[in-house]
Amino acid sequence: MAITISTPLLMSTILFILTCIPIPSFSCPSHQKQALLHFKSTLTTTISSSSYHMVQLKSWNPTSDCCSWERVNCTETKTITELHLDGLVVPLPGIDPAPVFSDILAPLFHIRSLTLLDISNNSLHDEIPGDGFVNLTELVHLDLKDNQFNGSIPANFLG
Ligand SMILES: *[C@@H]1O[C@H](CO)[C@@H](O)[C@H](O)[C@H]1NC(C)=O
Ligand SMILES: *[C@@H]1O[C@H](CO)[C@@H](O)[C@H](O)[C@H]1NC(C)=O
Ligand SMILES: *[C@@H]1O[C@H](CO)[C@@H](O)[C@H](O)[C@H]1NC(C)=O
Ligand SMILES: *[C@@H]1O[C@H](CO)[C@@H](O)[C@H](O)[C@H]1NC(C)=O
Repeated sequence: MAITISTPLLMSTILFILTCIPIPSFSCPSHQKQALLHFKSTLTTTISSSSYHMVQLKSWNPTSDCCSWERVNCTETKTITELHLDGLVVPLPGIDPAPVFSDILAPLFHIRSLTLLDISNNSLHDEIPGDGFVNLTELVHLDLKDNQFNGSIPANFLG
């Protein structure tokens, strides 16, 4: 008796088995990488180098795993948990620079797995973007000190 296995059936069985094997991820999620690259490019185009010293974030490079970047920490399963973005933008002495507004933070509010966000010491102006922080439901440590925020503390910080 000859046993025949139809090729399409065999192929779909193999495909089915393959898709059931969990594939460990070797780098951070691409949407989190894109958010950080967007933040870096906004910063680079917004900050006037004649008024500020800006940390260059050279390791933030599109071809590498963002978990290996400076100032970024991830879980073992490669989602971003911590961003240490303090002292990135520092006014040069003796200059009254054009303000840097808090809206440059917008891309960071797409990284919903953050537990720690340190954006202290960046001369940020304007109001604290309360709406954005609504996304960061895992956040347990937030450092906003040494900025120039105005307005009130967002209501969702107090509840
Ligand atoms: C975060 O990553 C830095 C290296 O980028 C490392 O020195 C530091 O210990 C890490 N922090 C935590 C809490 O894992
Ligand atoms: C702010 O950051 C700059 C550059 O990273 C550093 O030289 C300065 O000491 C920091 N200031 C405070 C108050 O942490
Ligand atoms: C919250 O996160 C989602 C998903 O990344 C994003 O589409 C949305 O714009 C974020 N909201 C704010 C206020 O940034
Ligand atoms: C905060 O500053 C920004 C820009 O400098 C201004 O547009 C806004 O009205 C200020 N908000 C408050 C509540 O003073």
